[in-house]
Amino acid sequence: MQFPDYLMKEAERRMEPYDVEGFVLGHGDANGKVMLIGEAPGENEALEGKPFIGRAGKELDKQLEELGLKREDIYITSVVRSRPYKWVKTNKKNAGGIRKANRKPNQKEINAHASLLDYQIEKMKPEIILTLGGVAFERLTGRKDKISEIIGTVIDTPVMKVKDADKGIYEPSEETYRVIPLYHPASVFYNPKIKQTIDQSLEQVKQFLSN
Ligand code: URA
Repeated sequence: MQFPDYLMKEAERRMEPYDVEGFVLGHGDANGKVMLIGEAPGENEALEGKPFIGRAGKELDKQLEELGLKREDIYITSVVRSRPYKWVKTNKKNAGGIRKANRKPNQKEINAHASLLDYQIEKMKPEIILTLGGVAFERLTGRKDKISEIIGTVIDTPVMKVKDADKGIYEPSEETYRVIPLYHPASVFYNPKIKQTIDQSLEQVKQFLSN
């Protein structure tokens, strides 16, 4: 799913001021039923231009298998397409004392790439949208729910589309979409205790997909 030139140029211009690198368009079947929306690429993804190929990607693959979904049958994309980074100290040899670390995208970065996600949703019109983590869920619905309280539930809702990216103004779509919030696959690395909740939510989503 290529973007029209004007959209790419606008997104690049808006992203200019921020510490981000690389660009990931998205991957998979844009004619499929399911769209999966992550947060932003990490280091490996930014280098290769492909979504979820690092450590979180391996976890995602396990979860997709549990859901009975194949990467080729769904479309994988994210809220922000470039890797947001920050400089942190490191003791690693030959690194010169500092290195880039991943960070969450900030609201201005989300605004800068908002029209890209809107474009893909409008083109694909997915039957089901799986959001991975709070950033994707809030970007789509405008809601700030705790993911732990809504994980795996099916939410029929308009999705937020950017109206004025420079001012960060969004409006709900006229169409309703089926959004299912899930944890970001990396969250189990920081909080292994949620593994059981994740498994339950995947089972719930699997049942839903098979109906
Ligand atoms: N997290 C995301 O949201 N997307 C990726 O591609 C990798 C990690």
